[in-house]
Amino acid sequence: DKGNHRHFMEKEIHEQPEVISHTLAHYLDFTKSAAKPLDLPFDFARIERLAISACGTAYLAGLIGKYWFERYARLPVDIDIASEFRYREMPLSANDAALFISQSGETADTLASLRYCRSQGMTIGAVVNTRESTIAREADVTLPLLAGPEIGVASTKAFTCQLSVMASLAVRAAVARGTVSAEEEKALVRALSETPRYANQVLKTLDGQIETLARDLAHYRHVLYLGRDTSYPLALEGALKLKEISYIHAEGYAAGELKHGPIALIDENMPVIVIAPHDRIFEKTVSNMQEVAARGGKIILITDAKGAAQSTVKTMRTIVLPDMPEIITPIVYALPIQMLAYFTAVFMGTDVDQPRNLAKSVTVE
Ligand code: M6R
Repeated sequence: DKGNHRHFMEKEIHEQPEVISHTLAHYLDFTKSAAKPLDLPFDFARIERLAISACGTAYLAGLIGKYWFERYARLPVDIDIASEFRYREMPLSANDAALFISQSGETADTLASLRYCRSQGMTIGAVVNTRESTIAREADVTLPLLAGPEIGVASTKAFTCQLSVMASLAVRAAVARGTVSAEEEKALVRALSETPRYANQVLKTLDGQIETLARDLAHYRHVLYLGRDTSYPLALEGALKLKEISYIHAEGYAAGELKHGPIALIDENMPVIVIAPHDRIFEKTVSNMQEVAARGGKIILITDAKGAAQSTVKTMRTIVLPDMPEIITPIVYALPIQMLAYFTAVFMGTDVDQPRNLAKSVTVE
């Protein structure tokens, strides 16, 4: 049931504050501002590496997870898309753990990677939305997403719940490995507890602006998405979402890669969407925007109040989110990029919930 929404995707975008809150509460204790102890079949303090494998949007959630595990828990992560992971013949250690992220729990390549890791003697965790699924069944532990059923082929709430699980696990790992102080743990958990409130604010205040922006975007055939740090996987996700449902050709790039190739494409016919919350490398992204502007490129900047005040580059449009703690930016910034893809697809008149050639669950290789 779509309720009063036009599409399941719209409904699922709007459910995010609630389901994110639900998911976070499963892993974090908000009264104590602490990561809940989890009953895991492996010990974050003893493993030397974590392997992560998944497909599509779930893979991009894992990629953001890698930044968090490495940054907060100093735990190296090996990650690849499942169709590469399963054939890559990477050396894996039986003393380490592997995580498989999947909304459906049935994705063929992800399941094959799981079985490969199993054959190498690794301990397996399944980060899945569908608890009665093959991937959940074959894992040693299920780490649920608690997003509720996701109907739209374009993943939205499952993605932000996957991010919520990744962030919570990274904090848990950091505590286990002694890489954050008690104070830092509190601050991270408090920051995460604010995610639903920011998500709500974005949905309530940016809807109209993003719809207007989508009306412009629908006139273009190519779009480039740029970001650095955790905004880089988010740029990939923004591009994936846009191509899936609006059929606009979109590419996501690490902003620092711009001058290694894609800058050759820049002209007034290819808008460049830059995801850049104000962080320690914000200035680097600003210089990439200057390079785009100097070549007549049209910039759409998605930033926060601080970033908007400090950017000196002329943009076609700037979407301003509230300032927020660093760890939650990828979760909250996922919303405007989902909304942008959604409204653009609506303007183009595509079948938003059932885009052509795609299936919700990819059970063949
Ligand atoms: O069910 P899964 O999470 O394993 O599915 C993985 C991908 O097929 C999925 O995320 C796909 O990329 C989505 N359509 C993206 O919106």
